[in-house]
Amino acid sequence: MKSGETELPEYSSSDEDFVDPWHVASKSATGIDYDKLITKFGSQKIDDNLITKIENLTGKRAHHLLRRGVFFSMRDMHGILTLYEQKQPFYLYTGRGPSSEAMHLGHLIPFIFTKWLQETFDVPLVIQLTDDEKFIWNDITVEEANRYAHENAKDIIALGFDINKTFIFSDIEYISSCPEFYMNICKVQKLVTYSQVKGIFGFDVSDSIGKISFPAIQAAPSFSSSFPRLFKSKKDIPCLIPCAIDQDPYFRMTRDVAQKLGGVKPAVIHSTFVPALQGVQTKMSASDPNASIFLTDTDEEIRIKDYACGVLAREQLQEILIKLLQKIIGKHRQNRALVTKEMVKQYMTPRNLECSIVT
Ligand code: TYM
Repeated sequence: MKSGETELPEYSSSDEDFVDPWHVASKSATGIDYDKLITKFGSQKIDDNLITKIENLTGKRAHHLLRRGVFFSMRDMHGILTLYEQKQPFYLYTGRGPSSEAMHLGHLIPFIFTKWLQETFDVPLVIQLTDDEKFIWNDITVEEANRYAHENAKDIIALGFDINKTFIFSDIEYISSCPEFYMNICKVQKLVTYSQVKGIFGFDVSDSIGKISFPAIQAAPSFSSSFPRLFKSKKDIPCLIPCAIDQDPYFRMTRDVAQKLGGVKPAVIHSTFVPALQGVQTKMSASDPNASIFLTDTDEEIRIKDYACGVLAREQLQEILIKLLQKIIGKHRQNRALVTKEMVKQYMTPRNLECSIVT
């Protein structure tokens, strides 16, 4: 895409499938049509050539989430692979909106894949916890949102991210400790008009100014200059963002302003959604406890929820599925119980991140 060309398709509530960061809805019995979404969002489909290229460059079999098409769409992945080939640095950026005590099964998808990317490419990773976003959108206090950020950090740490290469931050805390992060937020806020965020996110005049200005806060970690203590003040390290495709509107906006503020357009790799327990017409979401299997659910809760809904599989498969979920979540519960407050503090302290290609 040439600089100055816009990447911002308009929000339309009349389309059959609806996907934005807060709502996912399909009228079709088979769920979201992801090919149509690629066309609508203007991203690119991940094809076999890209997967083979990743395997050839890394000398490693591609992750099954990639081989099975769960990660199905991208922006500028070829550029990231060229950097890797030329031994140039890049970093990973992903995040979580801490709206509840624990994360759910769907959230595991981007985080498991991010861990694989970090290990395969040996790159640093920043993880944004948008406690500010969840306070602004949800009926929780700002203190609760910040506490959930720390609780959710335990789920993330339990997945085994390398402490020497990973920085997890709460917006509320990091904004007040890093002027460079806030400077980038201001730059994005100055470059994006109300009319643009209205077009991208569907905001209207009744939305709070907190909501309207928030996208700049999710955009800012895409620029390495937001992390002077992590990247030895290098301002132009490109970034790759793994996420489900609901987060793409933020990064379309970010890519549109990146060059104007002296940054590099972030690359993005998108996954499909783990569906809600009730059916494929929406995504698993923390705002509906009955639609989701949380990473803190007990074996009994997993069984009850699965039987109550029974859409994940037909009856014969249900027992197999319940046992599998109990095994995965049970292991996660054990790992999470080992994460101490001190460990959370270590991951959340800004420090130099190790990486063989960031010098
Ligand atoms: P949040 O907390 O809604 O979701 C965290 C991550 O999980 C993905 N996700 C899902 N993936 C598969 N199936 C699902 N059912 C499902 N539900 C959610 C999301 O796409 C996301 O990758 N505003 C963001 C937090 C954030 C962020 C980021 C996310 C800040 N910076 C950078 C990704 C990348 C949020 O509320 O995510």
